Amino acid sequence: REKNWQEYCSIYNQYVQFYHDEILKNESLTIAREYLKKRNLSKDEVKNFKIGFVERNSNFYEKLKDEFSEKVLVESGLFYLDEKKNTYVERFRDRIIFPINNISGQPIGLGGRTIQENSYSAKYINSPETPFFKKGSNLYNLDLARRLSNKIDHVYLVEGYMDVVGLSKNGIENVVANLGTSLTDRQILMLNQFFEDIIICFDGDESGYKAALRAAENSIKELQPEKQISFLFLPDGEDPDSYANKNGKANFIDFTKQAKISIHQFIFNHYKQQTDNNPSSMAIFEKKLRTIAATIKDDFIKKYVLEFFLEKISSLTPHSNIGKKQFYTKKVKSLQSTQ
Ligand code: UTP
Ligand code: MN
Ligand code: MN
Ligand code: MN
Ligand code: MN
Repeated sequence: REKNWQEYCSIYNQYVQFYHDEILKNESLTIAREYLKKRNLSKDEVKNFKIGFVERNSNFYEKLKDEFSEKVLVESGLFYLDEKKNTYVERFRDRIIFPINNISGQPIGLGGRTIQENSYSAKYINSPETPFFKKGSNLYNLDLARRLSNKIDHVYLVEGYMDVVGLSKNGIENVVANLGTSLTDRQILMLNQFFEDIIICFDGDESGYKAALRAAENSIKELQPEKQISFLFLPDGEDPDSYANKNGKANFIDFTKQAKISIHQFIFNHYKQQTDNNPSSMAIFEKKLRTIAATIKDDFIKKYVLEFFLEKISSLTPHSNIGKKQFYTKKVKSLQSTQ
């Protein structure tokens, strides 16, 4: 197994280096370079994140097959068997690739974005789970972001690779992304080892909102004394990458200060929006909040979150309900009210 790990690392190192060099040096890759330019990425970001590009007809399997067995090459997730041609082909053909590193900076997986605008294939794909790459145990860019933790007490958690790269380009480097799956307890605990406050900032759309709610209900269990989990909701249609490119660093930081809300306030406000001012609806509301509070592992946090919920409920005025089924913008506006 130790030998397999060494070989796995070697395959990923060679692969990432090769396609990174390609995008920097191969003059013929103009389409890929133009794509990066269009996304506002310069050589600095390409180097910092070791971004690469895999050409459509490229086949690195051929270059590796003398050094490694078929088994370990397939296990890497970088290649799969094309049964019609009976040859191994690249999984990330015609894609910009983002290496996903473990906490020590060793690449163990990849994310790949198509450069075709109206592609029939998925916009993003990831390496499959392998013996050495478990999505729920890793976070994109944690290896770089954690180095800032002696200067900065908070970290942004965003949806995608481009959100990390886009914020970083705009001077905000304490950012990580989860890898196209929902947030796990392990990821929260890993982030809390380095940062006091985790600011979850997903896309300003309905699916980003739903993912934020799921993340809130799941991660409140893990809340610890001295730690915080917060949420930042972007304007409709923006994601962290687009927002930062439009508005810049100072604005993003101001926006964070003025708009971020705590996990318990978010959960309270979300369920308040679902509630009508009648006894049966209020009962469901209180039950839901008590159930969520009961999942919290730390007894002191549990006590104070429950107190917070109950105090808020008892201070609701007869007309404070805002009604059901709102669209994203309205939802987010009413989240900011602390009533
Ligand atoms: P988004 O769907 O928000 O990407 O996915 P986007 O912002 O539109 O993409 P760009 O800006 O045009 O490049 C965010 C993240 O969700 C995962 C990826 O990790 C991606 O970075 N994802 C998305 C997938 O894994 N597969 C997909 O098909 C789409
Ligand atoms: Mn999208
Ligand atoms: Mn999204
Ligand atoms: Mn985007
Ligand atoms: Mn997005």
